[in-house]
Amino acid sequence: MSALTSTLDPHDPEYRRRRESMLAKLAELDAEHAKALAGGGDKYVERHRRRGKLLARERIELLVDPDAPFLELSPLAAWGSDFPVGASVVTGIGVVEGVECMIVANDPTVRGGSSNPWTVKKSFRASDIALENRLPVINLVESGGADLPTQKEIFIPGGRMFRDLTRLSAAGIPTIALVFGNSTAGGAYIPGMCDHVVMVKERAKVFLGGPPLVKMATGEESDDEELGGAEMHARTSGLADYMAVDEADALRLGRQIVARLNHRRLGPAPGPVTEPRYDAEELAGIVPEDLKVPFDPREVIARIVDGSQFDEFKPLYGTSLVTGWARLHGYPIGILANAQGVLFSAEAQKAAQFIQLANQADTPLLFLHNTTGYMVGKEYEQGGIIKHGALMINAVANSRVPHISIMMGASYGAGNYGMCGRAYDPRFLFTWPSAKSAVMGPQQLAGVLSIVARAAAEARAAAEARGQAYDEDADRAMREMVEAQIEAESLPFFLSGRLYDDGVIDPRDTRTVLGLCLSVIHNAPVRGADGFGVFRM
Ligand code: COA
Repeated sequence: MSALTSTLDPHDPEYRRRRESMLAKLAELDAEHAKALAGGGDKYVERHRRRGKLLARERIELLVDPDAPFLELSPLAAWGSDFPVGASVVTGIGVVEGVECMIVANDPTVRGGSSNPWTVKKSFRASDIALENRLPVINLVESGGADLPTQKEIFIPGGRMFRDLTRLSAAGIPTIALVFGNSTAGGAYIPGMCDHVVMVKERAKVFLGGPPLVKMATGEESDDEELGGAEMHARTSGLADYMAVDEADALRLGRQIVARLNHRRLGPAPGPVTEPRYDAEELAGIVPEDLKVPFDPREVIARIVDGSQFDEFKPLYGTSLVTGWARLHGYPIGILANAQGVLFSAEAQKAAQFIQLANQADTPLLFLHNTTGYMVGKEYEQGGIIKHGALMINAVANSRVPHISIMMGASYGAGNYGMCGRAYDPRFLFTWPSAKSAVMGPQQLAGVLSIVARAAAEARAAAEARGQAYDEDADRAMREMVEAQIEAESLPFFLSGRLYDDGVIDPRDTRTVLGLCLSVIHNAPVRGADGFGVFRM
């Protein structure tokens, strides 16, 4: 095994500049995370407390094992939308009775915990993670159901929430509902579809229609308790398997249920763990402010893998993509990391071979993104850059070992696809605050639009036989506007808000986050692909 040697100098002014820029971005990130933690704001939080209820995150804290980590997912969901940051639901992976579980907790302080289009997307993502990684799901339910003004966006697709629960169950993955409050109308199918149901006495309300709706429909007079109280469901309908006397008791019952699941991890166990030789703190000073300046991803790898040991594959070939083998928290991984930004034919071929090797060896893959995409130009087109890029994309798309992607810097164009961007279903995808992702860089995109507009204006002028000059002022204004728009849409908060990642993380936490993800992944078997699509040669 070979250990990496870092050349990073923490006293170098350039390192300090990079670090300051990263710390400023992290301060902005903290401010955005604080919005998610604030839920519906003081007024609704205080009202909730006055009712003697726990907040969503307090429920989670009491549910998970003491001192066990909770990997929160998509905390910035709905960022930049009309809905509050966090999307009125908390999702994440926590350890309950030693079992890694997917926890989905409604935040009743945000519009009654109702589900808006982003809540639905965030919940679907949680279901996908649970299914792929075979994680038991625990729903902490208290929700006003569909966000009624945006029902058109959620009613039809939202049915998937219930479908997913029963499919998890059919796949042998346990599903649990702890009902703390409202779970009415469509929401009643959350406990309805779960394998195990706990309801809190005098708090849970689970019915298809409340008293006013029943009165309208049939004229019958009824109250909440008769229609959907915990007592009724525990004694009469049988929908509740357990009745809890209060919230803490419901969480205790939830833990008791998990303890009896006889959950087994199906992936290989990790080997011994050694810490990297270099300080994770220095990960804050690696990415340049200007993403056009390349950086050596080995400096990142040296700070995240066990013992900083990295056996590089084809180190002399296709050097703008670094590939190699390592272990992380005792789990074997193959790493693909962009070095100089651009992917050429050699890098694409090297990647495809490396991905096949990982599939032969059942080794999960980590993609560290900092790419401006595949090389363009006459020489490269004639050299077959399309078919080589396709080769890499084929390998990534048909690879069956688990993938994890970390967006460190740029992730532009088809490079995003080749490096296993969101559309290629990595098991997890986290972003550093320094990352940017778009079809191309903002300047390039605005420049392309300008060239196209200029050519069209010239063609029109020629057709009309007039020598009209191109409006340069309008062109400049257009470029500036487009550049600003694309820049804003390339940034991590915006992309995280749209659920294009599983969260924006502090680079210094990367090893911990990856260790948690690898542990989660090994709840399911880890097996490589038997075959790929037709490779273009
Ligand atoms: N869609 C959109 N907004 C909703 C909502 C929903 N389903 N449920 C609640 N809200 C809003 C309320 O209008 C209120 O907004 P405001 O404070 O700006 O006036 C805020 O969320 C809090 O609601 P409130 O009723 O004061 O909270 P509560 O804790 O006392 O009651 C519910 C919560 C969920 C029991 C109650 O709001 C309710 O019954 N909502 C409708 C439930 C329903 O029928 N949903 C359809 C299911 S498909």
